[in-house]
Amino acid sequence: MQTAATPDISAELRQRFATANRVLVFTGAGVSAESGVPTFRGGGKTATWKGLPFDVISSGAMLERNLPAVWEWFDYRRDLLRSIQPNRAHRAIADWQDRFADLTLVTQNVDGLHQRAGSRSVIELHGNIWRARCVICQTTHEIPLEGARPDACGDCGNALRPDVVLFGELLPPGAFEFAAQRAARCEICLVIGTSGLVYPAASLPEIAKSAGAFVCEINPEPTGLSDFCDAVVAGNAGDVLPQI
Ligand code: APR
Repeated sequence: MQTAATPDISAELRQRFATANRVLVFTGAGVSAESGVPTFRGGGKTATWKGLPFDVISSGAMLERNLPAVWEWFDYRRDLLRSIQPNRAHRAIADWQDRFADLTLVTQNVDGLHQRAGSRSVIELHGNIWRARCVICQTTHEIPLEGARPDACGDCGNALRPDVVLFGELLPPGAFEFAAQRAARCEICLVIGTSGLVYPAASLPEIAKSAGAFVCEINPEPTGLSDFCDAVVAGNAGDVLPQI
């Protein structure tokens, strides 16, 4: 019988994993779920803020209307993250850097947990909650894990906003294009903990597959991408990744 702790990992996946050189790892909110970060579409209570759905409060339109409210929501989310630690899934992915000649990590997450687990050169498609960006000169400023966030741009004095891609906004220039290039040359694409609903990010597995990669999803629930994947491992990322 299959349980969360003994995921059914196919011999083909193990064999491909053992011999691959170029691997693309594509992660979503599910990779941080076992750290205690609620997913967006999993019913976690942070998916709404003061009665507003997350895609309303986290929108470019709200930023135009009410920047302080957007900050309030992101300040709240950073507060939740402060005490949270990377989990076994983040650590397994960080370890893979030394295992594969060419590992690309693309994340939709803004929580910075991949980097805290030791991953380098993370392609952050949706930005990072631990950075602020000037609305005028676009300079980015780190927000410390402890202590207050900067309240104005240190370079030009103008207002700051979260350096996060909000609903209705474009991805950071070049980030998706770079990720797509890497997807087009990988041998294995692991799709971990994402519902695969938000584009263009969700097109990366399609790009990988069209270019001949073996695409494997790791997720306890089926998603819109499951049927299209070459393999699906039904389980929690923290159980599955250390065992592949
Ligand atoms: N391990 C692996 N996957 C998990 C786990 C787990 N322990 N727990 C939950 N999941 C899966 C869920 O089954 C779901 O398919 O993680 C997925 C989370 O989906 P979403 O909440 O939709 O998150 P994500 O796909 O990252 O959302 C994409 O949407 O709201 C925007 O910008 C935001 O980056 C986000 C984007």
